[in-house]
Amino acid sequence: EDLGVVAVGFSGGQGKSGVDEGPQVLIESGLLTQLSDSLGYKLHGDDKVHSYAELLPQSDEPYRGMKNPLAVSAVTRRIAEQTYEQSREGRMTLTLGGDHSIAIGTVAGVAKATRERLGRETAVIWVDAHADINRPEDSDSGNIHGMPVAFLTGLATEEKEEYFGWIKDDMRLNKRKLVYIGLRDVDQAEKVILREHGIKAFSMFDIDRYGIGRVVEMALAHIGSDTPIHLSFDVDALDPQWAPSTGTPVRGGLTLREGDFICESVHQTGNLVAMDLVEVNPQLAQDQLVGVQETIRAGCSLVRCALGESLL
Ligand code: ARG
Ligand code: MN
Ligand code: MN
Ligand code: MN
Repeated sequence: EDLGVVAVGFSGGQGKSGVDEGPQVLIESGLLTQLSDSLGYKLHGDDKVHSYAELLPQSDEPYRGMKNPLAVSAVTRRIAEQTYEQSREGRMTLTLGGDHSIAIGTVAGVAKATRERLGRETAVIWVDAHADINRPEDSDSGNIHGMPVAFLTGLATEEKEEYFGWIKDDMRLNKRKLVYIGLRDVDQAEKVILREHGIKAFSMFDIDRYGIGRVVEMALAHIGSDTPIHLSFDVDALDPQWAPSTGTPVRGGLTLREGDFICESVHQTGNLVAMDLVEVNPQLAQDQLVGVQETIRAGCSLVRCALGESLL
């Protein structure tokens, strides 16, 4: 099977440096080799990591409360072209991040390609401690990695091309085709949005209550069995015990096995068209002797599970 890889060395959606080194360390640890040698994928796209330096503006003042708006808009616009190029060939598209703002690009590109190729809407399974659905005006931090879902669903819109105005209807995500798993740190304004728009979300409470098996079953039932799936996996969905090297860790998260189970289950549907793995920051948790290595190992495991590695 063909796999299109997009390696995004970008950190402008939040304030901590290091998350731009995520793809490099994932690749250096052998992830792509594992995918080609053990899982038999034919790789296309990037073998080197993009820094998008040529797209970064000289100055980038906040706009509508967003930090680095011109940079994030320009870079995600380019990522949308990259994922579109891979996905329209019918390739499984894997994006390694980078902070979660990059999903503005990955989902936009894949959604457009899938509409053109299959005439279908793409469903998104967003696995995360956070909902990342703040509208610019609602965000306390101004960090765009907390806003991608608002732009993708059209809850946040903008006319100006250079401030995400490039996102057109054929790149958008239907909010009924969105489901969250793993939430546990949702801002007040985000809770209101989720409630008012009836967006399907399974928090850690639901996972404790029903178990991961039932939760994944319900999540897949919500999007339907006959729909292309984009899995956007923020490594901070995992408990910091397994993935400490990330910018906004939240305790009380998924075990590595629960994370792998989500990925294995999505693979088994046969409907996966794209996956993002984001927010691996090898500069964080360096004080914990094994922290960085553990996070990288966890990230590689999640990707392999989503792309078809099975226990038996
Ligand atoms: N809700 C917070 C914010 O908007 C945290 C977002 C964290 N997002 C992430 N992709 N790790 O700033
Ligand atoms: Mn998160
Ligand atoms: Mn996220
Ligand atoms: Mn398989």
